[in-house]
Amino acid sequence: MTEIKTIKKIEHINTAVDYFKNEIDEGLSSIKKSLPSKYFYDKKGDALFVKIMHLPEYYVTRSEHEIFRTKSQSIIEALHLNPNTYFELIELGAGDGLKTKELLRELNRLHYKFDYMPVDISKNALESLEKDLNKEMPSLSIKTKQGDYFEVLESLNENHNSKVILFLGSNIGNMSDDVATDFMSKLSANLQNKDKLLLGVDLIKPASIVLPAYNDSQGITAAFNLNLLQRINKELGANFDLKFFKHQAEYKESDGIAKSFLVSTKAQQVYITKINKNFSFHEGEKILTEISRKYNDEILNSILSKTDFIIKNRITDSKVYFANYILERK
Ligand SMILES: C[S@@+](CC[C@H](N)C(=O)[O-])C[C@H]1O[C@@H](n2cnc3c(N)ncnc32)[C@H](O)[C@@H]1O
Repeated sequence: MTEIKTIKKIEHINTAVDYFKNEIDEGLSSIKKSLPSKYFYDKKGDALFVKIMHLPEYYVTRSEHEIFRTKSQSIIEALHLNPNTYFELIELGAGDGLKTKELLRELNRLHYKFDYMPVDISKNALESLEKDLNKEMPSLSIKTKQGDYFEVLESLNENHNSKVILFLGSNIGNMSDDVATDFMSKLSANLQNKDKLLLGVDLIKPASIVLPAYNDSQGITAAFNLNLLQRINKELGANFDLKFFKHQAEYKESDGIAKSFLVSTKAQQVYITKINKNFSFHEGEKILTEISRKYNDEILNSILSKTDFIIKNRITDSKVYFANYILERK
């Protein structure tokens, strides 16, 4: 029994490293180089992201937090939850759960019957979240799941318990509209008619507000972006010299998409041992590391029109910077 478990664990580790290796190879071998943003979140990346969330320029977390702090009761009402009927509260990409904790406190106070099931690619984020919640709300039932949220979608229809899915922090904005459409279609296809999705999205607004959020004055966002190269150095045996890459953020209100890049400041070659390959960069060459799509009703409806979801409610912060939409199946 123990032996089987050990073998399974090794297989799992191999698969995760293989995915990482293949996705890095694919991204850096493309004509327009890119790296998947989900790999930002190792232990150091998690800690840097928590710092970003508290930066004066990063309005995203503050705005959504205001909604959860002041309107958790309205959210619960809009979700039409019954205190006596069990449901699963599943959060995709939970991170440190800062905003969710406001909702959990309220649900707990009102004695709702539910399990909280945070899903995250970062084991470290899940462990800290579970520890925090056990301390603050010992009666809360938590079932964590580590993995890529694209891969948990199919497991959602394994039982018929009512479900509320949380997808907060404008995490959906890290997907292109095509990927978001595919993701939302798969998500809706795996839910039952009574299930709900609470989706947090950052709203379109001027560059003077959006750009500083992705290029703060203390350089924390730059460190977060560059840490991706450090992670590749550490985990895949690469020799990226961080001195010769710099963070760059771009946003045009007309596009509504903030983009983060790592720019090579000179012509250089980088060797990645685990891929056994050299990658060349010319001076000024950009690696796209993250997109952060901003939304309005029209953009969201255009994505949802190709899925089974419809918008039931929209709750915003006082500045109307951020919106939490409640979606149901048609
Ligand atoms: C930008 S943070 C937001 C955290 C939280 N949702 C919030 O609003 O504060 C993104 C979180 O999603 C996780 N994440 C990113 N891509 C993921 C993926 N494909 N599958 C699972 N988790 C992912 C990261 O590890 C991180 O904890």
